[in-house]
Amino acid sequence: MAGFLVVIWGIFAFTALLMRWNAMKYRQKGLPPGTMGLPVIGETLEFLKQGPNFMRRQRARYGNFFKTHILGSPTIISLDPEVNRYILLNEGKGFLPGYPQSLLDMLGKYNIASAHGPDHRFVRGTLISLIGPTIIKDQLLLKCDEFMHSYLSNWDGKTIDIQDRTKDMILMLMLKMIANVESGPIPEAFKPEFLTLIDGTISLPLNIPGTHYYNGLKARENIISIIRKMIKERRACPSSQPDMLDSLLQIEDSNHKKISDENIIDQVITIIHSGYETVSTTTMMIIKYLHDHPKALQDLREEHLAIREQKQSSTDPINWEEYKTMRFTRAVIFETLRLAAVTNGGMRKTTSDMELNGYVVPKGWRIYLYTKELYHDPILYPEPLSFNPWRWTKDTNLEGHKYFMLFGRGGRLCAGKELALVVISIFLHYFVTKFRWEEIGECKLVEFPRVEAPNGLFIRVSNY
Ligand code: HEM
Repeated sequence: MAGFLVVIWGIFAFTALLMRWNAMKYRQKGLPPGTMGLPVIGETLEFLKQGPNFMRRQRARYGNFFKTHILGSPTIISLDPEVNRYILLNEGKGFLPGYPQSLLDMLGKYNIASAHGPDHRFVRGTLISLIGPTIIKDQLLLKCDEFMHSYLSNWDGKTIDIQDRTKDMILMLMLKMIANVESGPIPEAFKPEFLTLIDGTISLPLNIPGTHYYNGLKARENIISIIRKMIKERRACPSSQPDMLDSLLQIEDSNHKKISDENIIDQVITIIHSGYETVSTTTMMIIKYLHDHPKALQDLREEHLAIREQKQSSTDPINWEEYKTMRFTRAVIFETLRLAAVTNGGMRKTTSDMELNGYVVPKGWRIYLYTKELYHDPILYPEPLSFNPWRWTKDTNLEGHKYFMLFGRGGRLCAGKELALVVISIFLHYFVTKFRWEEIGECKLVEFPRVEAPNGLFIRVSNY
């Protein structure tokens, strides 16, 4: 027993010594307050285990702007809305995107989160031409409508895991929009590889067999082969309907040279990755909140039935003007994004030592712009923990508020914002006008590292 106690005491003493040594290493004048944990791993384990509670605990001790060491890098965590807004609006003043290496490696070297300056402007322009409002109006809205109409055609009488189904739905919709792929061997081969790649995006970048990172890179290789084959077939046989792949094959860089196949592949992976979890999780959470708030469901259904009543037939697609009238739908989407905090900020890196918020932030440190606490701020959103979509229709200035950051802000404002709103709105249109639903069993939800229902969210669907 005594021997055991000595060993335990020894481990504590050694750990305390390492932490002290690490703290001394970062004892630089002017740094924000905070703790750096153990050498190399820092406070990663506490951060991953406790997530938002880690943020709250450190904020209670050190305020809205504190230092830590997570995910392999010294990091400043900022919960200060003014600082976060400043950084988002001023990327050119010494900031770069600071996303973890694992994410960048899974998305490829041409992905938008690796690009900055003129390269970023070029990639962003390319993506906006593929997924922005103009092409949505001309092409994507109709494709989305056709897709939802048929995807939801046979749900009557079924029990569905809506988490699983919304993920499948978004992936299939993306493949249709990108390359007019609707069924067959491509989605079947693509899906499992893509899920493995997603697991690799939040992982320690250790290229050792068996790790998420290693498996993710292998999945990426397989995805590359699938997309290469799609490109080859498209070059041999043009598509009868225009799609994103057609546009990507025509895009030229600033030297009027066609962009490479590697570049095209990375753009395709980035588009699917950016929309997949964000849109599917938001849609799942909307179904959950609407189920729990019948008045919100009633108002939403009335909005959509009113649009349907103006239509000649049940198959008439929704047009852009009708989509733009869906004000309560938009409010439901924003309220869900706010309350569930599907995304909770962004990451940047400093290019030189700089002064920020009265402190020194050394060159190369990461800054995690953590916005979740802002979404639950009782001054900006009274009764912040209640689902109240009407707050967005009563206060029309809320979307234009200077701290509205649900889709980011500034030069990296979400390039897929309008597409996300269109996809969710069209899904809701068909879902609430065709069906009613009830939840089956207890649904457990977790909020970190991603919002999800670990055991699924089951609903029984029947005709309305
Ligand atoms: C509810 C859905 C969505 C949410 C909440 C969301 C949120 C965000 C946020 C917060 C950012 C800023 C990240 C930063 O500042 O570093 C962002 C960027 C981005 N999003 Fe979205 N997003 C959504 C859907 C989509 C979709 C559907 C696509 C594409 C199909 C997309 C593509 C992008 C791209 C390409 C960027 C990077 C923009 C740039 O760096 O210039 N997003 N998104």
